[in-house]
Amino acid sequence: MRGADKILLSLAALASAAPAHDPKPFSLFEYKTIWQAPPGVRAFYPRLTELKDGTLLVTTGTSGNRSLAGLSSFPVFESKDGGVSWKQVSNITDQVNGWGMTAQPAITEMTQDVGPYKKGTILASGNSWSFNETAEGVGTKIDLYASRDRARTWEFVSNVAVGGRPNTTNGADPIWEPYLMIYDNQLVCYYSDQRDPDHGQKLAHQTSKDLKTWGPVVDDAAYDLYIARPGMTVIAHIETINKWILVYELPIGNSSSYGSNYPVHYRIADSPLEFQSAEPLPIVINKEFAPNASPYVVWSPVGSKKCGTIVVSDADNSQVYTNQACGDVDKWEMHATPQPAAYSRALHIFKKHPDHLMILGGSTFDFDEGDDPNLSASVVSLTEVVKGKYDKKGCDSRR
Ligand SMILES: *[C@@H]1O[C@H](CO)[C@@H](O)[C@H](O)[C@H]1NC(C)=O
Ligand SMILES: *[C@@H]1O[C@H](CO)[C@@H](O)[C@H](O)[C@H]1NC(C)=O
Ligand SMILES: *[C@@H]1O[C@H](CO)[C@@H](O)[C@H](O)[C@H]1NC(C)=O
Ligand SMILES: *[C@@H]1O[C@H](CO)[C@@H](O)[C@H](O)[C@H]1NC(C)=O
Ligand SMILES: *[C@@H]1O[C@H](CO)[C@@H](O)[C@H](O)[C@H]1NC(C)=O
Ligand SMILES: *[C@@H]1O[C@H](CO)[C@@H](O)[C@H](O)[C@H]1NC(C)=O
Repeated sequence: MRGADKILLSLAALASAAPAHDPKPFSLFEYKTIWQAPPGVRAFYPRLTELKDGTLLVTTGTSGNRSLAGLSSFPVFESKDGGVSWKQVSNITDQVNGWGMTAQPAITEMTQDVGPYKKGTILASGNSWSFNETAEGVGTKIDLYASRDRARTWEFVSNVAVGGRPNTTNGADPIWEPYLMIYDNQLVCYYSDQRDPDHGQKLAHQTSKDLKTWGPVVDDAAYDLYIARPGMTVIAHIETINKWILVYELPIGNSSSYGSNYPVHYRIADSPLEFQSAEPLPIVINKEFAPNASPYVVWSPVGSKKCGTIVVSDADNSQVYTNQACGDVDKWEMHATPQPAAYSRALHIFKKHPDHLMILGGSTFDFDEGDDPNLSASVVSLTEVVKGKYDKKGCDSRR
């Protein structure tokens, strides 16, 4: 036995001696509960951001018996040790509509000053909606909130956009699924938009240089085919080639791609404000499999020298989809992970640990009695995932 092997062996012995429930700060771990959803409630559509000092903030939508559980808001959790331990620090609450913060949260830290708001301010959004006629009417509203005290308290900043009553039928006019990004000294708010009579649904954005007033609606993905419903914008920066990737789901009537009705598509552009002119591409694995619904995307410099690694997640599978060829449509791979499938999982690459991939999950979209309702996460080595560490364990479970 070579010396290095001996050291590895004793390290392995040490690792297995350590209690599995007590990983070290900023270490790797498989499936850890962040928040146990109260009875009748489930965590749905989680989102996260890493602050400049490495603190993680996670928030989540909730579903089920949420108003009775006093949960018509987005709970916010903080971790200072890379996701090993968590505490709830606040709730993001609707302060203006009387409708609650219903679903689809977004959260980000300001990396630049924008208008009167300073770098380090935390911004959050979400969809506040009402099905029923209330004193305030019915509709969907994407509102912006800010926290100047590290997510302890929140102030209403502005309304970005207003749509009709929540209704996913083509011809109705709601808005959905905000995604916030600071870019070029402005805030960009991306969302799904059913208000344009030329499109069942399209993806669009608006920008603001003061967080109060918002520019015109600019298309990011609008298809000539009326019944196409591109939805659920998430964006990442491919730093090595300075390009931007947008991922979205693309249901088109009853059509399917390899059995997926909400196949995941993407576009790569030089500017995150100019996706509409970029080529739309599908993610297809081995010409036989298409990821389905609510995608998320992150980029890591780990992997290929020129391209790093693009990592995408979907709603229906525990796997992630990786691309180390700068998004080449023929170069997607599928790799298993230990984090179960969930509706609108989120991904994160740690700034100081670019090989550490966090997968943040909650409940599935079609929830059955006995399914996991809790907010949870895994942190895995991206290199090991791509090498297939989990591929052989038979967790290739497509639900
Ligand atoms: C989720 O949390 C509940 C408590 O609300 C707990 O009883 C249950 O075991 C948890 N489920 C999983 C899969 O961890
Ligand atoms: C909702 O939650 C409340 C409080 O926990 C409970 O009393 C009620 O029975 C629940 N309703 C449903 C429909 O589950
Ligand atoms: C958040 O809201 C829940 C439900 O109303 C409440 O129990 C909890 O105390 C709140 N937490 C904070 C930090 O405000
Ligand atoms: C509000 O609308 C929902 C969905 O249409 C319906 O199920 C519910 O009964 C309505 N609630 C009230 C108080 O009218
Ligand atoms: C949803 O929108 C469609 C298309 O406009 C409309 O026909 C239907 O009545 C709406 N449903 C509800 C519950 O408002
Ligand atoms: C989908 O299929 C159903 C049932 O066959 C049909 O009624 C409906 O019009 C179809 N919808 C679209 C958008 O093609």
